[in-house]
Amino acid sequence: MRRAIYPGSFDPVTFGHLDIIRRSACMFDEIVVGVLSNSAKNSLFSVSERVSMISELTRDLSNVRVGSFDGLLIDYAKEIDANVIVRGLRAVTDFEYELQIAQTNRVESPKLDTVFLTTSLEYSYLSSTIVREFASYGGDISRFVPAEIIPKIMAKYNK
Ligand code: PNS
Repeated sequence: MRRAIYPGSFDPVTFGHLDIIRRSACMFDEIVVGVLSNSAKNSLFSVSERVSMISELTRDLSNVRVGSFDGLLIDYAKEIDANVIVRGLRAVTDFEYELQIAQTNRVESPKLDTVFLTTSLEYSYLSSTIVREFASYGGDISRFVPAEIIPKIMAKYNK
């Protein structure tokens, strides 16, 4: 059983994340989307809101499930018996940070490999931060996130 974890903050989930989920679901037997529950981070959505939005948006993918974790990713990967971490790479600016994390995780957990998928070109500029920034000014975010979650995002900004 090849089970991979796709971890992230997903605050909120974007078309870029969903593209990585769909593509990695074709490569592994099971994908667990792991939502980071980091209480120190000031997030727009609660962990349960993020988990339920991603679950709803991936309900057509039978080998995708969504969970949440607090603490180290390597510990969560062990807990759910995942042997691969999936991350998306948008541009060279992501690379240094991602390489450092992947190498640290591998030093600590040698059997856990990180696989990088290059983000589809049409989403290479996209991030949750950009979505939040745009939405906070009442901007049109329909090119960034699925229509189903737009009202939820706008409601957070009273738009
Ligand atoms: O979507 P993000 O915010 O870029 O995701 C970052 C994430 C969740 C993958 C990373 O911060 C993470 O794994 N955090 C959990 C703590 C941990 O294991 N850190 C890596 C060791 S340095």
